[in-house]
Amino acid sequence: MRRLAPVFLLLFALVLRAETVAADVQLTSLQQHQFQQVCARCHARPDAGAPLVGDVAAWSERNAQGFEVLLRHTIDGWRTMPPLGTCGSCGEVDLRVLVSLVSGLSDPAGAP
Ligand code: HEC
Repeated sequence: MRRLAPVFLLLFALVLRAETVAADVQLTSLQQHQFQQVCARCHARPDAGAPLVGDVAAWSERNAQGFEVLLRHTIDGWRTMPPLGTCGSCGEVDLRVLVSLVSGLSDPAGAP
């Protein structure tokens, strides 16, 4: 049980974060599903080797590349991350929202 505590904390942080971003970006229910079923499979699992959602230190250098580079890397695949982050049902609009959610960087072309 004690070993699960960080996982619960992370999930809790994810829910908070999803709500915060949703306030600016408005996730559709499909995007919430894509985030939870696809991106979070790696980006919310400490053993997956992916930068974790909410881990500011892990994202600061990546985010310095700029939003469009992060998006391009997600679409084309980046090192050990497969193309589209394996999200076959994600269109570009979905990916923009999800990249923002996962990285913590807001989409400069996002809705006002
Ligand atoms: C199969 C596991 C996996 C899934 C699923 C996954 N990712 Fe990743 N992602 C990774 C890994 C691993 C990295 C780090 C790759 C590296 O730099 O070595 C990464 C890196 C990234 C990066 C940073 C790219 C950069 O330029 O540094 C972004 C943005 C990203 N993922 C977004 C997403 C989004 C959005 C989703 C859901 C649509 C997603 N990922 C799904 C494993 C995954």
